[in-house]
Amino acid sequence: MRIARRIENLPPYLFVEITRKIAEKRAKGEEVISFAIGDPDIPTPRHIIDKLCQAAQDPANHRYPESEGLSALHRAIAEWYKKRFGISLDADTEVLPLIGSKEGLAHVAWCIIDSGDIALVPDPAYPVYGISTILAGGTPHYIPLVEENDFLPDLNTIPANVMEQAKMLWINYPNNPTGAVADIDFFNRVVRFAQQHDITVCHDGPYSEVAFDGYQPVSFMQAEGAKEVGVEFHSLSKSYNMTGWRIGMAVGNAVAINTLKTLKSNLDSGIPQAIQYAAIEALTGPQDCIQKHNTIYQKRRDLVVDMLNNIGLVAKPPKASLYVWAKVPKGYNSVEFANALLDDVGVVVTPGVGYGKNGEGYVRLSLTIPDAALVKGLSRLAGWRGVKRY
Ligand SMILES: Cc1ncc(COP(=O)(O)O)c(C=O)c1O
Repeated sequence: MRIARRIENLPPYLFVEITRKIAEKRAKGEEVISFAIGDPDIPTPRHIIDKLCQAAQDPANHRYPESEGLSALHRAIAEWYKKRFGISLDADTEVLPLIGSKEGLAHVAWCIIDSGDIALVPDPAYPVYGISTILAGGTPHYIPLVEENDFLPDLNTIPANVMEQAKMLWINYPNNPTGAVADIDFFNRVVRFAQQHDITVCHDGPYSEVAFDGYQPVSFMQAEGAKEVGVEFHSLSKSYNMTGWRIGMAVGNAVAINTLKTLKSNLDSGIPQAIQYAAIEALTGPQDCIQKHNTIYQKRRDLVVDMLNNIGLVAKPPKASLYVWAKVPKGYNSVEFANALLDDVGVVVTPGVGYGKNGEGYVRLSLTIPDAALVKGLSRLAGWRGVKRY
């Protein structure tokens, strides 16, 4: 079969070898402990599931939903933003529910990028930003996120000829994979940069509610003028452990929101309505679950960081996100190191290079692993002697 070049030309999947090894070990009955995936292991809170079950019983929710979502959900999202960040959003024109934020991130590039346009993409980053840029016919220009700059992009280093063709900027804080956070001064600088160069900012913020030690991440929408230049993507996946239900949102610039709505009305038929009611319950119901989950993640974060430091890896405790970003020991690149851990002790970590070339030299460990498995995984790491091989 002849398939489209846009698919053939996608970058190769970097974890083929590791994925093959995991399958092989599991087939042999070996227990593999994975720190690889950022998918909350804690169930969706009970009151949200109760609402979902109740809504699923109503035949009105068995039919096609409206592509743009229930107006009650639009209002719940706007109210949540007001309560959490003090931001006023027009529920009709500045809010759009999504089938998970990934869906919106993948589609928004189609709304902004034409063939030949450039999108500024952080490196390392969640791969969807670069891939959706490519699928929309554009070219990513990668901006390094390096530790010396607290994993924030240095917008002043982008060459003038790139800026002439640049049409959008992707950013993501709290950050996957580095765990870095951004303050309002950074977001204000981003708005000024976008105004100066007439580019659209897409801020991806699904981890804004996963934070530790009393830290409260800010929203890009809190920056002065943010609504003029951009949109923010957010999700119920990580805040309420709802990855499996697929629901998120985009908020911000009314033109961008309307364009995404137009594209989506031609592509999908909306979010199952029972799930929309569950999301309304999540956003408007009791919020104590968030602190409860964060307490669990914080304990895991401390255990992971301590253990990594004990065995000679350099890792700082992140203030937010579900990830610990650790430097691999000298003598290994990130894929070799991940392979060594898998071969020697059956522990899976994600090689940083999978998130871009500036991710080389790091591995990512996710905190979404049940406590018992986490402790077992860490004790295996404690017994690992590989660091001393070089
Ligand atoms: C940075 C980032 N953005 C978006 C997503 C997608 O989340 P959702 O479940 O809302 O599609 C993820 C998922 O891991 C992520 O890490």
